[in-house]
Amino acid sequence: MIQVSDHSALHISTHPLASVELNVLRDRNTSAANFREALRRLSRILTIEATASFSTRELIIPAPSGQVFSRTLSRTVTIVPVLRAGLGMVDGVLDVLPAAQVGHLGLYRDEATLQPVPYYEKLPDTIPDSEVLLLDPMLATGGSANEAIRRLREAGAGGVHVLSVVVAPEGLNAVEQRHPDIQVYAAALDSGLDERGYIVPGLGDAGDRLFGT
Ligand code: PRP
Ligand code: URA
Repeated sequence: MIQVSDHSALHISTHPLASVELNVLRDRNTSAANFREALRRLSRILTIEATASFSTRELIIPAPSGQVFSRTLSRTVTIVPVLRAGLGMVDGVLDVLPAAQVGHLGLYRDEATLQPVPYYEKLPDTIPDSEVLLLDPMLATGGSANEAIRRLREAGAGGVHVLSVVVAPEGLNAVEQRHPDIQVYAAALDSGLDERGYIVPGLGDAGDRLFGT
């Protein structure tokens, strides 16, 4: 994992398997089924990297031949996918964090204004006492992520960590400015946005590719 100079909030995975999965996601010939599987596997890697800095506490494990003084996570974890595309990351994160609570935020990006339009919110009451992983594979203008983080803060979230796949500099700058304490874990920092607000080179419309729409 590297931190990108000029972007202290961004952590890009350097794991070779992250590149393997990102290659599948970027390839325009990948089927929806293979896209879903690759996103699930990549989400596992990103979860392991994002949780590496989580605080831990001591605990004693009653092993078969004696006690072991060990450590475990200090706080529970709540994951919150941004509908729809964030749903494609949920199973991969739960593979690694099976006890996590799951909330949902429904946002879509207005095609003309590129502004996020909220349509659903269901957040568990564990949010204030949890580390929160916000899941959205695409960080383009950053409008959706900023709106999602604002809603999580309103629900009492303290530690919020964004798990994404492809990040555009424009979106990262927007999140860094509005929420300077947020860390973003992703597989790639791409070059920018096209005239429709899509990430270049990106991987297309993540929601459409996941669900075949
Ligand atoms: C996509 C993506 C993000 C958002 C990113 O969602 O999943 O939520 O766009 O763009 P932004 O950084 O410019 O806000 P979309 O609006 O396409 O909805 P969908 O996931 O339901 O397809
Ligand atoms: N949403 C997507 O799904 N892809 C992009 O490139 C930008 C926003």
